This record gives sequence, structure tokens and C-alpha cells, in this order.
Amino acid sequence: MNDWQARYGPWALVAGASVGLGEAFARCLAERGLNLLLIARRPEVLEQLAADLRARHGVEVRTLVADLGQPDLRAVVERAAAGLTVGLLVYNAAYSVIGPFVDHSLDEQLHVLDVNCRGPLVLSHLLGKAMAERGRGGIVLMTSMAGSQGGPWLASYAASKAFNLVLAEGLWDELGERGVHVVACRAGATHTPGYAASRPRPSRVPLLEPDHVARTALDALGRNPSVVPGVFYRFSAFVMNRLLPRRMAVRIMGRATRQLYAGRDGNPKS
Ligand SMILES: NC(=O)c1ccc[n+]([C@@H]2O[C@H](COP(=O)([O-])OP(=O)(O)OC[C@H]3O[C@@H](n4cnc5c(N)ncnc54)[C@H](OP(=O)(O)O)[C@@H]3O)[C@@H](O)[C@H]2O)c1
Repeated sequence: MNDWQARYGPWALVAGASVGLGEAFARCLAERGLNLLLIARRPEVLEQLAADLRARHGVEVRTLVADLGQPDLRAVVERAAAGLTVGLLVYNAAYSVIGPFVDHSLDEQLHVLDVNCRGPLVLSHLLGKAMAERGRGGIVLMTSMAGSQGGPWLASYAASKAFNLVLAEGLWDELGERGVHVVACRAGATHTPGYAASRPRPSRVPLLEPDHVARTALDALGRNPSVVPGVFYRFSAFVMNRLLPRRMAVRIMGRATRQLYAGRDGNPKS
């Protein structure tokens, strides 16, 4: 048994696992010898990844096709994980609406809450309780640089990411006392299908690679409450969140988001 299996094994659950950062987490964890329970909505993509991981790493991989925003999430995951000792949770999935807040329906904004806040809370509670009772385990919550101040044109998404950051910080201390490591990963723009699907203008800032983000997040477990992958983004976080007045940080985020997305999908040019 290796250190990872002893500390966080034998099973890891990755919520939002089929492509992008979720796939990168699944690949890193399989490489470290953990069995995987992978959750996403598209069965074919999920099965293809599961088969590849079984073949490459000889780990057990189970899949659960489910929407993490669904109201009975707890019962669905409890059933799928019955009998498995899940020692690591990675909550990766997220939903975002880009553009003026009032131009999107309330249902869309509420879906952001369900997938980005309710989902990680439910799974952290369900799996964190068992981990605390065992006295070992780990939880990674994917958040974003957007979650460190208000995000014009991404207001509900940014707020949901702030929720994950603050939730992880609290649990880092609380669950840490019971042997469970918790970390929030504050990623910057990352080269994923989700990022590409948002159809941004060409980025002026460097894009991170998913493998680098996943490894940085996993390697930060047991250290600080949050981690920012990439030197450029660590420097940006320092400037935005430590040096600048908060109102200026909000304005800069707003300007950057409008530059990336104005004119797209009928969004007003600004
Ligand atoms: N990419 C970036 O630039 C960036 C920057 C900062 C932070 N982040 C954060 O990193 C995380 C991952 O981002 P990403 O760009 O890798 O996303 P992505 O490319 O859109 O992938 C999201 C993954 O989650 C699954 N998923 C999405 N919604 C789901 C739902 N409701 N239920 C179940 N599974 C769901 C998707 O599979 P299915 O579609 O099959 O369900 C997919 O496997 C998010 O928390 C995001 O906020 C990303």
C-alpha cells in the first residue's frame, strides 16, 4: 500500500469527472493507486475514461451518471457509494452564467447554487462525516480566482466560488483536527472543454493546463486551506486580494470579464 492509498484510499470520489479538470483529477488519482467513483452526466464519455483508467492503472473504477444539481443528490450518492470506503472527495463540477445578472433567468441562477454550492455541501457532509469518524481522508473543493471578490457578469458564479473557498477554509481547520485534510483550489483560466465552450475571446493571460492544476491541488492537501496554481495567478491573487482596494479589484474583474465575453451570445458590447 502506498502513502496515498493509506492516507486517502482505497476509494476517491470525483464529482464532475469526465473531461477537463475532473478528468485530470481522475487520472492523477488513478496513477496514485486509488480506486475511483466517477460522477458526470454523459455516460459514454464517463465510461470511456473509466475503461482507460482501468487498463492503464489496474485500479477499480465505478461510474455514476447523475446530475449533481438534483435535489436527491445525497441519497443517489449514498446508494452508489454503499460499501465503499471513500477516503477522498474532489468536488469539481460547476455551472456558470456569463453576462448581465438580470438578463439570465432566476432558474439559471438557482441552478448555479444547486451545482456549485448545494452539491459540495451535501457531499462534504456525507463523506466528511465518515472520514472524520475514521480519522483520515481528504476533500478538495474546486473554486476559482473569481471567488475572491465580486465578479461583474459572473456575479452568481463568483459568489458560489466564494462559498466554496470559505467552506473549505472552515473545514480545513475543523476537520483537520480530526485527521481530514481539506483544500480549496483557486484556479485561474484553464485549458478545458468547459472554458472553450464559454467561447471567450483569445485570452491575454496564460491558460493553465488541467494536469498542473489537479496535481497542485492534490499536493496541497494537508498544508494550507487554499492553493493558487501557477506563478502568474499567485502573483495576481496577491495584487488583487492583498494590495488593491476591494472596489478596484471588483472593477478589474468586471473589465476583464466584459473584454472576454462582450458581443458573445448577444451580450451587449461594453
Ligand atoms: N476552466 C477554467 O478556466 C476554470 C477556472 C477557474 C476555476 N475552474 C473550476 O474548475 C472546475 C472544473 O472546470 P472545467 O473547466 O474543467 O469544467 P468542464 O470542462 O465543463 O468539465 C466539468 C466536468 O463536470 C461534469 N459536470 C458538469 N456539470 C455537472 C452536473 N451538473 N452534474 C454532474 N456532472 C457535471 C462534466 O461532465 P458532464 O457534462 O458529462 O456532466 C465534466 O466532466 C469548476 O469548478 C470550475 O469552476 C475552472
